[in-house]
Amino acid sequence: MDVEGKVAVVTGAASGMGRAMAVTFAAAGMNVVLADIEETPLSDAAADISATGAEAIAVRTDVSKLADIEALAEAAVEQFGAVHLLCNNAGIGIPGPVGDMSLEDWRWTLDIDLWGPIYGTHVFLPIIEAAGEGHINSTASVAGLYAGASLGAYNVAKHGVVALMATLERDLRLRNSPVHASVLCPGPINTNIVYSQRNRDPEDASHHVRTEQGDKFWDMLRGFLAEGMDPSEVGPMVLDAVRTDRFWVLTHPDMGKIARYQVEAMLDDGHLTR
Ligand code: NAI
Repeated sequence: MDVEGKVAVVTGAASGMGRAMAVTFAAAGMNVVLADIEETPLSDAAADISATGAEAIAVRTDVSKLADIEALAEAAVEQFGAVHLLCNNAGIGIPGPVGDMSLEDWRWTLDIDLWGPIYGTHVFLPIIEAAGEGHINSTASVAGLYAGASLGAYNVAKHGVVALMATLERDLRLRNSPVHASVLCPGPINTNIVYSQRNRDPEDASHHVRTEQGDKFWDMLRGFLAEGMDPSEVGPMVLDAVRTDRFWVLTHPDMGKIARYQVEAMLDDGHLTR
């Protein structure tokens, strides 16, 4: 797709990779709609982009709420007349061994990380198809390719996102749609994801179950991500996939090999790799 002059909607655009995508798209000549639950960083991000001379608006959105996504789509169309690119990127993460997670932790994670992309795709696909060409990208994770220990709900949500986008892309090709789909599976990126509970209702957050295994894993992850890739490197990867209709966007292709080893072990003798 030639993106110049087209319209992009990015969720989770107040921070990390979403913000980087919005900056990249604006620099490539797109009009951008930034959506996020965190109001102040969201309007700051939109103001920074507007200051470069690009067209950008901010729409406060909770992606776990269908009515918010519908209002986001309305605002985008009202402002720019069409939408060509949607990035379902907003997401949160918390640690949790499957046996110890509270149902509140499951719901909070799945509502944002899986229902967010489902609502986004449901609401925006007809709008993007009506524009005559376009693209939907969703941010999954390496955790969408390989379900490691200590991250139960997150792994389930991200595997769901990979399945959602793969099915969508195959369905779109079957009906010769002018829209393409892709999935971003990042490895470690230095963002605020490890502080996800900042966006959670305190009453709901009080049901988070802490475990020694989960805390240990999160401490390890915090250090790992602090050394991770800068999010500004990710925006151009997504833009390139949009321009070239590439489905898989892996920030750390080597990490994707854990999925290959898992399939090899499955076919070999049926054991689960560790
Ligand atoms: P981040 O925390 O810097 O940005 C996430 C943004 O999503 C924040 O601005 C946050 O306010 C927003 N958000 C949270 N809940 C929301 C809701 N209900 N509605 C709307 N916005 C909401 O984190 P990051 O890393 O940039 O996260 C972006 C995506 O990347 C997420 O889907 C995450 O799961 C995924 N990811 C991140 C990795 C990493 O290493 N940082 C690795 C793999 C995937």
